[in-house]
Amino acid sequence: MSLAFELTDEVLEQLSGKGAFLTAGSDKVNTMTIGWGSVSVYWGMPVFIAPVRHSRYTFGLLEEGSEFTVSVPLDGTMDKALGICGSKSGRDTDKYALAGLSLKDASEVEVPVIEGCGYYFECKLLTSCDLEIDALPKEIVDRYYLNGDKHRLYFGKIVAAYKA
Ligand SMILES: Cc1cc2nc3c(=O)[nH]c(=O)nc-3n(C[C@H](O)[C@H](O)[C@H](O)COP(=O)(O)O)c2cc1C
Repeated sequence: MSLAFELTDEVLEQLSGKGAFLTAGSDKVNTMTIGWGSVSVYWGMPVFIAPVRHSRYTFGLLEEGSEFTVSVPLDGTMDKALGICGSKSGRDTDKYALAGLSLKDASEVEVPVIEGCGYYFECKLLTSCDLEIDALPKEIVDRYYLNGDKHRLYFGKIVAAYKA
């Protein structure tokens, strides 16, 4: 099976370090920046894999919820907002006001997306698992996990993927 949607180099570049907005939550919605994100086919369906550390406020929202969205900014104008959503926590900050971001309805899930981005993924959670830190090479552990704050990988079935 191949992906039924086109992924441009620009989208892949944002998901390979530059950043995208991951939004989750039902009663309270929150958005955080993710630098890494994988798009592939698992179990015969298109899947988005998002790595979220246990310490994030969004982690708890993902654990309680069943959906998430990923909004990918493509023109560089949202770099400051990516920085704010990647450094402030929704626990104690209204990141939308601070970063000047607005939410808009998604097409296939209840969790909204961020207005003004160039590409969107809407996902229904399938499963999640923790990255096994002990099994990683020492140089990676030393660089990314000295404080023990693990990533949990969230596998979401991509129910919509589209350019804006
Ligand atoms: C460019 C960039 C990429 C990031 N990538 C991730 C990531 O993939 N996973 C993660 O858990 N945190 C990542 N972060 C850090 C979180 O976005 C940050 O801790 C955020 O404040 C968490 O928000 P929350 O507490 O409201 O969930 C990234 C930050 C930046 C600036």
